Amino acid sequence: MSTPLLPPIGMLAELTHRCPLQCPYCSNPLELLKANRELDTETWLALFSEAADLGVLQVHLSGGEPTLRRDLEQLIAGLAGRGVYTNLITAGVGIVEGRVEAFAEAGLDHLQLSFQGARPATTDRIGNHKGAHEKKLETARRARAAGLPLTINAPIHRHNIEEVPEFIDLALSLGAERLEIANVQYAGWALTNRDQLMPEREAVDRQAEIVAEAQERLAGIINIDFVTPDYFAIYPKPCMGGWARDAFMVTPDGTVLPCHAAQTIPSLSFERFEPRRLSSIWADSPAFNAFRGTDWMQEPCRGCERREIDWGGCRCQAMAIAGDAAATDPACAKSPIHARMAMLIDEARRIATVPSREEAFVYRRIGAVTESA
Ligand code: SF4
Ligand code: FES
Repeated sequence: MSTPLLPPIGMLAELTHRCPLQCPYCSNPLELLKANRELDTETWLALFSEAADLGVLQVHLSGGEPTLRRDLEQLIAGLAGRGVYTNLITAGVGIVEGRVEAFAEAGLDHLQLSFQGARPATTDRIGNHKGAHEKKLETARRARAAGLPLTINAPIHRHNIEEVPEFIDLALSLGAERLEIANVQYAGWALTNRDQLMPEREAVDRQAEIVAEAQERLAGIINIDFVTPDYFAIYPKPCMGGWARDAFMVTPDGTVLPCHAAQTIPSLSFERFEPRRLSSIWADSPAFNAFRGTDWMQEPCRGCERREIDWGGCRCQAMAIAGDAAATDPACAKSPIHARMAMLIDEARRIATVPSREEAFVYRRIGAVTESA
């Protein structure tokens, strides 16, 4: 049953946790790292070079807001020099004039721009940043003018799910080649804000119909990816394509993780690039090997025909809801506690519709989780 160890093909580099926005669904950890914990330029370049040696073909430059790194052009050029495909994941706010063009000049291959809403008021409110929507539109225009292929990313939740048709129009009007309708995954800040963010069942069903119709109608014009909401699913998604299977991520201080929320699994400890080499972390780290392949699985995953399709779903969701990172993801209908997902949806609805609790977000910022919402 062991799966042979293949080299990783993708890497997500969280260059910084700093960000001008405060989205309540951010996938960053609750303990955000300050600027003085970030790797310096030379160390990121050394890490990228090792990643390329290891087999990584594409790097997603993310954050926080990666454009806050003044050395971003240098980092892009370092990756491009090694022939690695680069995707910049940005909120598109506060990028000074000339920089998007400089990223393209340095060799950037693709830009992914998030919109918190299709309407300006929604974008500004969810990101807690006045004028954010207008700045994002400008970033999109500049990216297209610089010849960069553009993806619009729309994280979907209770407060913007009715804007899905407008997101489609927005992406078309900006000349995007791809739109991601990505229902929020409840990890990081989104788990803290789950009750406020969880959409209504009827809205989720409507959204699925709208997206399916648009995918058919706009085939060949724009690609629309649909990330379904786990809590309403029958089967889970293969989180990160399977634990330590073909991708990994690096936090701003160089900690190498199999996924965003891996540090919420208390039994695991994670290593940092320098002194450890990426190749040795990828192959030998006990944390990377903990849920690799299928040997770690319990029933019902162990005997399931889908075990090499979804790899048992999300380990961090199993930890958060079942209290056991090796349990079947509760999003799966075969999980003995699958019914708990429906209970959490109902509980969220009850809480979110209490007038005083509406939009009582814990906005993402350092120290916010110690305050009451
Ligand atoms: Fe996937 Fe496990 Fe559910 Fe099977 S039982 S569908 S492997 S999560
Ligand atoms: Fe960690 Fe899904 S976020 S496995």
